[in-house]
Amino acid sequence: MNTTLSPVEVAQAVQTEEQWDNFVTGRYKAGKSEAEFRNYDAKALPGVAEFYRLNHENQTLDFVLRKEKEYYALVKGEKSIWEAAEFLNTLVDDSDPDTDLTQIEHLLQTSEAVRCDGHPRWMVATAFVHDLGKVLCLYGEPQWAVVGDTFPVGCAYSEKIVFPEYFANNPDMQVPEYQTMYGIYEPHCGLDNVHMSWGHDAYLAHVMKPYLPEEALYMLRYHSFYAAHQQGAYKHLMSKHDEEMFDQAVRKFNPYDLYSKGQARPDVAAIKPYYDELFAEFFPGRIAW
Ligand SMILES: [Fe+2]
Ligand SMILES: [Fe+2]
Repeated sequence: MNTTLSPVEVAQAVQTEEQWDNFVTGRYKAGKSEAEFRNYDAKALPGVAEFYRLNHENQTLDFVLRKEKEYYALVKGEKSIWEAAEFLNTLVDDSDPDTDLTQIEHLLQTSEAVRCDGHPRWMVATAFVHDLGKVLCLYGEPQWAVVGDTFPVGCAYSEKIVFPEYFANNPDMQVPEYQTMYGIYEPHCGLDNVHMSWGHDAYLAHVMKPYLPEEALYMLRYHSFYAAHQQGAYKHLMSKHDEEMFDQAVRKFNPYDLYSKGQARPDVAAIKPYYDELFAEFFPGRIAW
């Protein structure tokens, strides 16, 4: 399904994605309460509310299983990290070329912030790749299946997920087995055994599995699982190991994802040699997507 998006579709996709990014940043950076951001942001950003409605209505267990099957086969071709980043870079917002960062600049802001703080090289590499899964957009996936908060499917939705009322029209609400606390899962079965709503996080973590350490894969797979890493939901499905990894990895990465935006525009040419070496350390020349 290698759909080519029209310029209008690309512009819309970028707009929704940026609105969501800004929404998440505003919501957690400012430490707003659920009520505060709901009262303010839902009105201020109707596009975001509509995005969450589509996301919550369409992310069913069946949908997720289909997407896992489709994309975990890694049949979208081989690309180097730079090639994947260049490909993602074709998502350009034409409406405001002066202020908007390209996707590559955006990735570099995150990874440079991680590097500046002296974190290990694998974490710098992880920060650079963390949003490359958004190429799903360019495969023709709708926004609600690419970005947004992620959450387990096949069990009851937490009230801590943003806009929980939008789950009312999700067909899985009519399947009693999926609406119990544990649903199709066992208590503390570990998140590895849990199907997460489909998006760039799960896809990218799967692509990166052979190359990056476990902490990195946790950072990638759960970076949008705000209900768990910010609100503490879903502990009843998590193993002890998951909880440790959330403390040591997922929560460590989140500030870089949220707060590195708006920093100085990275000088891509100047720092490229560092990244060439970094990628050569962790990745083969081309990897399967
Ligand atoms: Fe992301
Ligand atoms: Fe991000």
